[in-house]
Amino acid sequence: MTYLTWSNDLAVGNTFIDGDHQKLIDMVNRLHEVMQEGKGKDVLGKVLNNLITYTREHFRREEDLMLRIGYAGRAAHLHEHEKLLQQVVDLQDKFESGAATLSIQVLHFLRDWLVNHIGKSDKALAEATRNTP
Ligand SMILES: [Fe+2]
Repeated sequence: MTYLTWSNDLAVGNTFIDGDHQKLIDMVNRLHEVMQEGKGKDVLGKVLNNLITYTREHFRREEDLMLRIGYAGRAAHLHEHEKLLQQVVDLQDKFESGAATLSIQVLHFLRDWLVNHIGKSDKALAEATRNTP
């Protein structure tokens, strides 16, 4: 069963942002899948690492776009990205050191963050992009 399904509700109407988000959703689903399959720490660690790496790349692309259009909401948006990255890197450290396991709560957190951030912040950015000549 797919954990998080892409739908038009999640579309922000910007081709590259929507494409990135679909890939992020695929990667969250992949993490869910390997957790459900009871894969070992090595596999989980790799999948988590891929997700974090791609998230960084995606955030950078959005941040470049914000700079390009002189986006007024840039500082607040960047803050959301940085806070999330801090949280997941912290989680990764705890996971790698054995101080924490990856739980379904972690996935719920990622899913909720993604859905909220896309629905509010990324939609606002895409809207601003359309309104910038
Ligand atoms: Fe964003």
